[in-house]
Amino acid sequence: MLRPFIAGNWKMNLTLKESKDLAGSIRADIEGMQGVDVGAFPPSVFLESVYSVLKGSSIILGAQNMHWEDNGAFTGEVSGSMIKDVGCTHVILGHSERRHIFGETDSMINLKLRAAFARGIMPIFCLGERLEERESGKTFKVIEKQLKTGLEGLKPDDVSMLTIAYEPVWAIGTGKNATPAQAQEVHGHIRALLEESHGEDVSTRVRIQYGGSVKPDNAAEILAQPDINGLLIGGASLKKDSFCKIVSVAFEQVRSPV
Ligand code: PGA
Repeated sequence: MLRPFIAGNWKMNLTLKESKDLAGSIRADIEGMQGVDVGAFPPSVFLESVYSVLKGSSIILGAQNMHWEDNGAFTGEVSGSMIKDVGCTHVILGHSERRHIFGETDSMINLKLRAAFARGIMPIFCLGERLEERESGKTFKVIEKQLKTGLEGLKPDDVSMLTIAYEPVWAIGTGKNATPAQAQEVHGHIRALLEESHGEDVSTRVRIQYGGSVKPDNAAEILAQPDINGLLIGGASLKKDSFCKIVSVAFEQVRSPV
């Protein structure tokens, strides 16, 4: 069993004080839980302050995005070296909101993935289909293209350290989660594609998170699927109680595997 990775994507939410309080209460709550990776992904401007709260704990700190260049005339962007400088070890790349609201393409996401690995930052690489793509039977095709272009030119060793987040766009923030069977079907397909492109050794090491309206009451069923190795949580990560409840579901499954 791969070590589950439960990540909270705070998106563009919370104040500075709320961010620090949330980080502090998550830290206090999960102290001593072992066998599960837990991560917080606050807004960039709060990273350094949240880092000061999480420092010395096992909680992973990551940014929600980064540019592929290290510095230069890119107004409004932050680079991998910058997020590393403020304590990040991880970064979310290719989130559907970046793709669909801000126009990020598969090729841009590929540049970002390469840049992250070049700087020793571990990416969570997001992919997923839109509702019309699912309804017209194109889910696998869309995933294949996002995966193929996203991973172009990456070293197999880097790919094996990757976390992939499958997030069907129609399930994000809508309260409409994919059924565990729907999610498993796509996760199984992603793993099969990875095996085809990078071999079995790599494909069995990549963690594949599910994301999209995960809540404490649906987390157990989703996490019990064989190819689901963690969760990327938006709305439910903004409250200590719901986020830590989901973490404890993962922790229980590690202690007594289903
Ligand atoms: P949600 O967001 O849990 O609010 O649906 C998930 C995500 O966008 O990562």
